[in-house]
Amino acid sequence: MDRHTKKKIKSISSETLNGKHYSRNDFARSIMNYPAMMVPSVQEPIIEKLSEALDNDVSLMDPFMGASNTLVTGMKYGMNVFGQDINPLSILLSQVKMSYYQSDELFDAEKRIIGDINSNVSEAVEVSFVNIDKWFIKEIQIELSRIYRAIRKEPDLRIRKFFWIALAETIRLTSNDRTSTFKMHMRPIEEINSRQVSALKTFISVSRKNIKNIGDYISVLAQKGYINNGKYIKNADIVWGDTNVEIRTDKLFNLLVTSPPYGDNQTTVTYGQFSYLPLQWIPIEDIDKTIEIDYLKTTQSIDNKSLGGTIKESINDIEERVFKKSKTLKVFVAQFKNDEQKKAEKVTRFINDLDNSIDKMLPKMKKGSFLVWTIGNRNVNKQVVQNDLILKELFNSKGVALFTDLERDILSKRMPGRNNFSNMMSKEKILIFKKTN
Ligand SMILES: C[S@@+](CC[C@H](N)C(=O)[O-])C[C@H]1O[C@@H](n2cnc3c(N)ncnc32)[C@H](O)[C@@H]1O
Repeated sequence: MDRHTKKKIKSISSETLNGKHYSRNDFARSIMNYPAMMVPSVQEPIIEKLSEALDNDVSLMDPFMGASNTLVTGMKYGMNVFGQDINPLSILLSQVKMSYYQSDELFDAEKRIIGDINSNVSEAVEVSFVNIDKWFIKEIQIELSRIYRAIRKEPDLRIRKFFWIALAETIRLTSNDRTSTFKMHMRPIEEINSRQVSALKTFISVSRKNIKNIGDYISVLAQKGYINNGKYIKNADIVWGDTNVEIRTDKLFNLLVTSPPYGDNQTTVTYGQFSYLPLQWIPIEDIDKTIEIDYLKTTQSIDNKSLGGTIKESINDIEERVFKKSKTLKVFVAQFKNDEQKKAEKVTRFINDLDNSIDKMLPKMKKGSFLVWTIGNRNVNKQVVQNDLILKELFNSKGVALFTDLERDILSKRMPGRNNFSNMMSKEKILIFKKTN
């Protein structure tokens, strides 16, 4: 049976893995441009083949759910799905993607919201935070506030969530922050002054695009018979939580599919900084009341709490523990001398957090379950951090062996795979482990 499954997985073509079959039909990706989204057309054949091996009775977890594309793919196969993330924007986005909406109710709400905005001539700015004038020109602050007030008036939380996500994307597109990097970085002044941008027009076009995309997605689920009484027939749970601390569910799973941060979440793929401006405009009580971090305090708050972010114990203690598990990490760190050691220490702290997180996940996985990890290598100080080898060693140290693996190329900067801008990663590994005890 296992041999058969391995053969099927190995037979997935390199074109598929490299994202050649990526299409607009990957609508789940287009609701919002969240950093480092997974490519459904790459994941789908793997999830499908493992589902067959699990007799098509699957409970899927993604402990670093991000834009929840893994969960969306699982729902296309009628699976129970569970996702956790530390970033409140990921929670809101995933809640929207897991909800059932009828296009008509969204069009009606859109009409009400736009009507309200057009009849609202107030110039009041509804939010205040340090440097608001740096990140938004006054006209945009006023327009965003009109949209904000109109969404708040919607009585149904589900509907508000949908439009908060449209507002979040509008903020990304109309603020003075560059959209070409995830790190906050202002556009040049000349560009800000000459830009013709309207928050209201952007909001309307984003809302319409999202209504269409979510409608397409829901009709796929409905056609497959996975919608009943206006609800997905299985469980789809979204939870805010720090995977380094706990997985916040009592449920058990037989499939884990994830793509963790690669250790560059403080430098290039800064999920938190990406979310900082949108989150200023979205009331926390409309996202999740259990969120425990003060994520609006600084632009770094979320990234500091994410894997590899906070310094909790001495580096010597961490090294002693992690080097025993990963020779590759030990050899990597040994190359760094003097001033450069700090950079190596950051990698060690990240790997230590990743290791702790795996310890939180494994008890939630049933015997015989599969764990699929998409991970790429990165460069630190011109030296390659072999995240894939390190991950294998971490799993081996816990008695979990590699089942099989695949490799994929990253085609471009922004489209399939992880969005990365510094050509640090050109290949990604998909490592599949099997938990046999
Ligand atoms: C590469 S993304 C996940 C992509 C996702 N698998 C998908 O299908 O789109 C990595 C995610 O890990 C999250 N993350 C980082 N540290 C975390 C932690 N300690 N606990 C939970 N989530 C964390 C980030 O917020 C980010 O959303």
